[in-house]
Amino acid sequence: MKYENITLAYGERSILRDISLTIEPGEFVFLIGASGSGKTSFIKSILGAKKLKKWHIFDDNGLDISLFSPKELLQYRRSLGTIFQDFKLLPRKTVRENVAFAMEVCGYSNQEITRRVPEVLSKVWLLAKKEAFIESLSGGEIQRTCIARALIHDPKIIIGDEPTGNLDRTNAMEIMHLLEELHQNGKTIIMATHDETIVNTMKKRVIAFEDGKIASDTIHWTYCL
Ligand SMILES: Nc1ncnc2c1ncn2[C@@H]1O[C@H](COP(=O)(O)OP(=O)(O)OP(=O)(O)O)[C@@H](O)[C@H]1O
Ligand SMILES: [Mg+2]
Repeated sequence: MKYENITLAYGERSILRDISLTIEPGEFVFLIGASGSGKTSFIKSILGAKKLKKWHIFDDNGLDISLFSPKELLQYRRSLGTIFQDFKLLPRKTVRENVAFAMEVCGYSNQEITRRVPEVLSKVWLLAKKEAFIESLSGGEIQRTCIARALIHDPKIIIGDEPTGNLDRTNAMEIMHLLEELHQNGKTIIMATHDETIVNTMKKRVIAFEDGKIASDTIHWTYCL
C-alpha cells in the first residue's frame, strides 16, 4: 500500500502533517512514538475512518482509494483486519458465538458461518476453546478471539492499535507469536505499540512518529529505544 500526503487537522490544529510512506505486501511494521504523536490518527486514517484534509492511498493494483465509491470503500475496509487494545467482545457469549455474530452482522449465510468459524479459530489456536465463555478466558485468549474476528474476511492486512496494551508479558508475547505466524503465512502486519521489549525483540521495520510526522523509518530494527 502506498500512503501519500496523509494530512489530518482538527480546526487549526495539525495532527498528521503530510505523511507519505509505502508498505509492501507481506511486511511487518511497528508504529512507535510518544503518546499524542499521531499513531492512532494514522491508523484511523488508513482505515478510511477519518475525514482527511488531503490524502491518497494506492492499493497494490495502483488504484486510488480516495476516489472509491462507498461500496468500493467497504470492500477496501474488508481487506483490513483490525485489532485494538480494548477487546469489545460480548462477555456472556462463547468464543464461537462472538465470531459467528460478527459474521452474521456482515450478512454471511449460516452455511458460510458454520464453515468459516472453525477455520479462523484454528488459525488463532482456539478451536479447543470454542465453547468457552469470554468471561472465563485469559487476556491472551480474549485477544486471540478478537484476532479470529479480524480474520473473518480473510484480510490481506492486519492493523493493530496497541493490541498487547492490556496484556501481561506472557500473554503479550503469545499474541506476538501469533502475529508472527500470520505474517509468515503472508499477512501484512501494521502494529502501533509502546512496548519497547516487543519492538526490540522482534527486529522488524519500525516507523517512529513525532508530532504528526515520521521521525524515522528503520527497515531492520536492531537497537534499543
Ligand atoms: N477527535 C479529536 N479531536 C481533537 N484532537 C484529537 C482528536 N483525536 C486525537 N486528537 C489529538 O491528536 C493527537 C494525536 O493523537 P493520537 O491518538 O493519534 O496519538 P497516539 O500516538 O495514538 O497516542 P497514544 O500513544 O497515547 O495512543 C493528540 O494530540 C490528540 O489529542
Ligand atoms: Mg494511540
